[in-house]
Amino acid sequence: MKRLAPELRKDGVELDLISLIRTILAACKDISFRVGQADLSGVLGSTLNENIQGETQKKLDILSNQLLKDMLLESGFVRAIASEEEDYIVEGEHGGRFLVAFDPLDGSSNIDVNSLTGTIFSILPVPEDKLDGTPITEQDFLQPGRNQVAAGYVMYGPSTILALTTGKGVDFYTLDKTHGSFLKTRDNIAIPEETKEFAINSSNQHKWDIPMQRYIRDILDGKAGIRGKNFNMRWIACMVGDVHRILCRGGIFTYPAHTDNPEKPNKLRLLYEANPMGMLVEQAGGLVSTGEQNILDLQPTELHERVPVILGSKQEVKICLDYHNQ
Ligand code: F6P
Ligand code: MN
Repeated sequence: MKRLAPELRKDGVELDLISLIRTILAACKDISFRVGQADLSGVLGSTLNENIQGETQKKLDILSNQLLKDMLLESGFVRAIASEEEDYIVEGEHGGRFLVAFDPLDGSSNIDVNSLTGTIFSILPVPEDKLDGTPITEQDFLQPGRNQVAAGYVMYGPSTILALTTGKGVDFYTLDKTHGSFLKTRDNIAIPEETKEFAINSSNQHKWDIPMQRYIRDILDGKAGIRGKNFNMRWIACMVGDVHRILCRGGIFTYPAHTDNPEKPNKLRLLYEANPMGMLVEQAGGLVSTGEQNILDLQPTELHERVPVILGSKQEVKICLDYHNQ
């Protein structure tokens, strides 16, 4: 049977994709409200559950996951979802041409202290051979980041901001809480190529590999050292917050591999953290790497796979990669 070609908007973006993004935003608006209510509605604190990755789930992790999962699978645009808070993929009953992988509430350790959190999402196409309704499997989510048709995050801060790319640059939208709509507030975000700001959790310094040790040591030497300039350090403990700052004013963010635990060397998840952030950063003119290769070219091997991440201002990431290539 011949399938109808998808309907496109003037700029070439599929109408169904726009509707799907609107569905994500409807869920995020609700999450934004609940994050803001905090103690007033008793949503702070942990549950007794652990996710498949051994992390204790917060009440707001579960709530955010449920909102996104239900709304996406009911929408008719999403065949299946994968989430940080779901051990396995979940397939819906209403069809759709897209798969969505998400981190429902990034920066969990910030929830209970009224600091930044966010939702990260990655949208992939349903593989051609599954468009006839053949059941979706985990394998269908294991597509390189290059296949993403859209990616973004919604940051729950003093204002609620969406950063979105559909492969034609990056735009910011701010939630107008008086009317409940996301309004475009900045377009064509461009990350400055050079920077004097870096983000790394330096309490892990003793666990980093040699190239990262050397790179950070030279940065810390400041003006008198080989880099010849003083740097500033920032660490929000919420990838959304750190990437947002980099999209706004440049910088380098890295969560390198840890050498002390060969069983679990990496922290950040490929499918719903590194890949969507990678697409945003690249679309804004930055670079994204594991230290060995571009993250968006990695062939994922499992749903909750973790990878080392280096991303941000192009020239600074290149310098960091030089240390790795030496
Ligand atoms: O989702 C993982 C995450 O919370 C990121 O948002 C953040 O960048 C990082 O982990 C913080 O890690 P740590 O608690 O080790 O500083
Ligand atoms: Mn996260």
